[in-house]
Amino acid sequence: MKFDTIAVQGFHNPSQNRNSISVPIYQNTAYNFDDVQYAADLFDLKVAGDIYTRISNPTTQVLEERLAALEGGVGSLCVSSGQSASMISVLNIAKAGDEIVASQNIYGGTINLLGVTLEKLGIKVNFIAGNNSDDFEKAINEKTVCIFSESLANPQISVADIEKLAEIAHKHNLPLIIDNTVATPYLLNPIEFGADIVTHSTTKYIASHGDAMGGVIIDSGNFDWTCSDKFKCLTEKDPSYHGLSYTETFGKMAYIAKARALLLRDIGCCISPFNSYLTILGLETLSLRMERHSSSALKVAKFLQNHPSVKSVCYPKLEGDKYYDLAQKYLPKGASSLLNFTIDGDRKTATKFIENVKLLIHATNIGDTRTIVTYPALTTHRQLTSKQLEECGISESLIRLSIGLEDVDDIIEDIAQALDKAIFHT
Ligand SMILES: Cc1ncc(COP(=O)(O)O)c(C=O)c1O
Repeated sequence: MKFDTIAVQGFHNPSQNRNSISVPIYQNTAYNFDDVQYAADLFDLKVAGDIYTRISNPTTQVLEERLAALEGGVGSLCVSSGQSASMISVLNIAKAGDEIVASQNIYGGTINLLGVTLEKLGIKVNFIAGNNSDDFEKAINEKTVCIFSESLANPQISVADIEKLAEIAHKHNLPLIIDNTVATPYLLNPIEFGADIVTHSTTKYIASHGDAMGGVIIDSGNFDWTCSDKFKCLTEKDPSYHGLSYTETFGKMAYIAKARALLLRDIGCCISPFNSYLTILGLETLSLRMERHSSSALKVAKFLQNHPSVKSVCYPKLEGDKYYDLAQKYLPKGASSLLNFTIDGDRKTATKFIENVKLLIHATNIGDTRTIVTYPALTTHRQLTSKQLEECGISESLIRLSIGLEDVDDIIEDIAQALDKAIFHT
């Protein structure tokens, strides 16, 4: 089946669901076990089935199967938020004493998660500024267990050279984890370019209506976890499952099976079935929205590029943008809704711009149906030091836009009048 068919109808059979053509919401916590042996087999992971909604749920399962198919993976795990997805994707293979090599061009919340919270758990992160793949390779050592990057980074709008990162990771027997939130599976499939694990905040483009938090981890099934002693947590016997080895029992599904059976069970950051349902509704129209987001964002970027009060604009599909060539390679269908620009002015000018928008909404979200304006230095990236901000290319006059689905002429008109007020009336 092609992308839209999977997104709209995949993995749901009305005849097995009392002929309901939409996916039913299984808003239940527990499941009736047929008999005692069946219950015991479920707890030993000998049979597949539902035990408790913290671990699996039929509504969520439809979303998981659709997202795994749309990204080209063998399996996926939906969780309560994008942050949970990033956390589980790393904790599934990293323990105290291990290290991660991560791009510095990632969402500020992920920088905090990796650099502060995981650091406290004894996992060290080497952040790499910029996009030079040699720098990633130089940071790898005998303790490194993975490379982590975003495909299309928020808010720098940089494009990762996934093929090169995968080559480096595999040369050192490491998996490459790609957060594909901003590109979405419609614009880019990182697995096709060698990524091993893909994560998303489904809160953004996939759910899209600003009403459902969620995240997903998708396993390509391609990484050989037996290739190095570093992944004993997947290859050796797990005492919490009576000595089961994930690679021996689940083969290509080892990583995702462990993420569910161990981490989701123990940490408990499960998605609610209702949020899975809302995310399924969003997913049905993903391709249509991504086309509109991308075409409107390019029009807005061109408008800003020609505006006398705008110093610079970053949007990878603008000719001359430093990521233009990579965008042509990795994002042929469009470069999503995110762009940023710097106003010719200071913090006061940027503040004035945000205070004067009427249609645009001042909030911290992306991929919403509505156009959202954000001031990263004072909000999403507030916790970063000035050195980190500088390395991330985030200045005090940088403004991020996530272009929504309103008429693009109205969006441009609102930006134009707010720019006028910011420049001439500060
Ligand atoms: C690229 C990216 N990854 C992950 C996250 C975290 O997602 P959530 O807000 O669903 O926890 C965000 C949030 O903005 C994001 O932009």
